[in-house]
Amino acid sequence: MSAEKVKIFLDRQSPKPIYLQIRDRISRLIKSGALQNGDRLPSIRSLAENLRVNKLTIIEAYSVLEGDGVICARQGAGYFVNSLNTSSANMKSTFAPAQNVIIPAESGTSFFEVHMSAVQAQTQKGMINFSSGLPRPPKDMALISRRALTNVDALFAYEVPQGVVTLRKQIAQMLVQQGLEVTSEDLIITNGSEQALSLAMHYYVQPGDWVIVEAPTYHGAIAILENLGARIIGIPMNAEGINLELLQQYLDSHRPKLIYTISTLHNPTGITTTQSHRQELLTLAAKYGCHILEDNAYEGLNFEPVPAPIKALDREDLLTLPVAKSQGILASKGVQRLYPQQASSPFAQRLQVL
Ligand SMILES: Cc1ncc(COP(=O)(O)O)c(C=O)c1O
Repeated sequence: MSAEKVKIFLDRQSPKPIYLQIRDRISRLIKSGALQNGDRLPSIRSLAENLRVNKLTIIEAYSVLEGDGVICARQGAGYFVNSLNTSSANMKSTFAPAQNVIIPAESGTSFFEVHMSAVQAQTQKGMINFSSGLPRPPKDMALISRRALTNVDALFAYEVPQGVVTLRKQIAQMLVQQGLEVTSEDLIITNGSEQALSLAMHYYVQPGDWVIVEAPTYHGAIAILENLGARIIGIPMNAEGINLELLQQYLDSHRPKLIYTISTLHNPTGITTTQSHRQELLTLAAKYGCHILEDNAYEGLNFEPVPAPIKALDREDLLTLPVAKSQGILASKGVQRLYPQQASSPFAQRLQVL
């Protein structure tokens, strides 16, 4: 039993959420070898009492560590270190055998053509469209519609350009729970995450700029970048996320303006970038002064816990995060999306003008 090995000092003044501090500390103990494979972690109750925090905070920290793959729960026995899984940086990819960087010579097929072929393919019997995320309509759709219709006047009135404030407040609360420091003032609601991507990409990218994307990636993002005249570098992924060695190499050689990443349930590979990989990606971006556009379209569709968005680690405001599809409060796909930034930042000010 290794409770005595788990010495955690919390900085209650730090802007970093407590559960992330606990997660980081335990990760470090595992990496350093102080906690070893098979070691049992303190029970949720005892650690909560020890640190004088709510049990939910420990549950959250353990869930993220579990999502990182560095600890695992055993039914009725508690949580155990799973360090054989931790150094998966060199793990062989099982889904992307071609580990080559892709730099397309010139813009290929247009978004319109790709979209039309997906729509046409869908009409064929037995065809399943994996090109985009197509959530099921919520079961209580009728109830949601009836509620919306109780205030018909509001439906036909103009809103402030940033979007309905009550919705922004609710979403801000949800994002704070994910570890982000945002208020409703930092959010802008858009028509679908495609529009959010487009606005952010127009803000960051000028014709001729290099942009790094994961290879493969969401075709809609490529279409926007191609329309903007960006030059795209596709960096392959491994089981933990984008290949960081290649990323660093191309950050160094091409000095790109933007990294576009789908950190959770990546389209099309389904990979969720691990916690340590998220941190390293951010560190590299900061080192090279490159912005990150984190597309979080599929947050909330996960069955297993996932790490907090990279945006939650971002202290230098390097990141823009479109949040999308799966909020559950959305009436249907493509209705309203948003992305947080500092309201006072040039980014938010420029978008309000756009
Ligand atoms: C990763 C990703 N981002 C953004 C989008 C666009 O989503 P929306 O329909 O909300 O515009 C999709 C669509 O499938 C997607 O897969």
